[in-house]
Amino acid sequence: MSRLKGRRIVLGVTGSISAYKAAEVVRGLVREQADVRVVMTREAGAFVGAVTFSALTGHPVAVEQFPDTGMAGEEHVDLAAWADTVAIAPATANIIGKMANGLGDDLLSTVMLACEAPCCLAPAMNFRMWRNEAVQSNLDRLRSRGVHVIDPEFGLLANGEEGDGRLAAPEQIVEAVAILADPDHDLAGCNVLVSAGPTAEDIDPVRCVTNRSSGKMGYALARAAARRGASVTLVAGPTSLQDPYGVAVEHVRTAGEMRDAVLANREGQHAVIMAAAVADYRPGTQAPRKMKKTQESLTLEMTRTADILAEVAADRPPVLIGFAAETHDGLDNARRKLADKDLDLVVYNDVTADGAGFETDTNIVTLIRRDGREESLPLQSKSDVADRVMDEVAALLRNREVVPA
Ligand code: CTP
Repeated sequence: MSRLKGRRIVLGVTGSISAYKAAEVVRGLVREQADVRVVMTREAGAFVGAVTFSALTGHPVAVEQFPDTGMAGEEHVDLAAWADTVAIAPATANIIGKMANGLGDDLLSTVMLACEAPCCLAPAMNFRMWRNEAVQSNLDRLRSRGVHVIDPEFGLLANGEEGDGRLAAPEQIVEAVAILADPDHDLAGCNVLVSAGPTAEDIDPVRCVTNRSSGKMGYALARAAARRGASVTLVAGPTSLQDPYGVAVEHVRTAGEMRDAVLANREGQHAVIMAAAVADYRPGTQAPRKMKKTQESLTLEMTRTADILAEVAADRPPVLIGFAAETHDGLDNARRKLADKDLDLVVYNDVTADGAGFETDTNIVTLIRRDGREESLPLQSKSDVADRVMDEVAALLRNREVVPA
């Protein structure tokens, strides 16, 4: 179950060509069972219809500050008080300017004046407007007041030009809202390092030895930790996944690079979670040029790579967690890894089971704890598994008094 479930989100939508993308933001929040109310400016109505948002949220969309209803006039205060979190996406230069200067001349700007909840905004505008000094200084003022700004991306803009100012991707906005809206941020102040994905060991400039890990489990862990308020570093092998919002990502390719990146970031981590499927062997030599099929058969001489988790265990962070993806004798193998690598927890999964393992969005895992307690979890999404693992991390850190009980 998502930690966004039942969280009350007001989403403000202002008049930008990218307003249609707000529908995807709403869908992402509703998919996680957040309770979303949309406030549109009149200008937003020129780009996207209120019916879209009322259909997606199941609630009427608020537009007018003084609607012709019995309780006209107090909606801005009620909405602001109701919200756990307020997000504006897209946010025009106009709403940014009004917020920075305390102006309220329509429903959304007065909701923002009355708003005491955590707030984020995702600007969208032409790059010339984006780099305008007044806009930037308004954003600085808002940041200094604790408003979280989701930076726009570089890319194709509405008029065909390229530049900064494109609305951030809807999934990134959902993620930013989820971080703000988390009910208790029980990993605030904690540093968490996660490794994810496969590694790739080159044979020659065009071929490599790799494995089927998609990185989805590790990325879900990084997102789950960030949502709960941790400072997260993700060391990621080659995957096709988008960097998680609010996470420092180091991209690596080989087991050697992953080792270097993990050890370089090891200092100061409260929890290290090795979810990566690290190659145990790499080709002893790499051919400098593409190998040609001149022989009938080919033998590759492979060399052992370093065991990163075992090296981290030698100078233990307060919490150390490993994964064991197995095809046979799984529980025994996983228990052995827990002991050999001096771990607090091993997350074991049988990669041959339907709905578990590589590439899927779901997993079936057993948590094997240092004190011998084992718990088999039912099939669930990798994000839910990640949240369960973070429950363990938070409990271990509380027990070790790294975070207050
Ligand atoms: N691991 C690691 N460095 C390696 C290999 C594995 O840090 N060179 C970590 C993985 O990220 C995982 C745990 O160790 O958290 C177990 O990995 P796994 O590949 O399942 O086991 P191995 O240690 O390689 O043992 P075996 O070959 O017996 O399966």
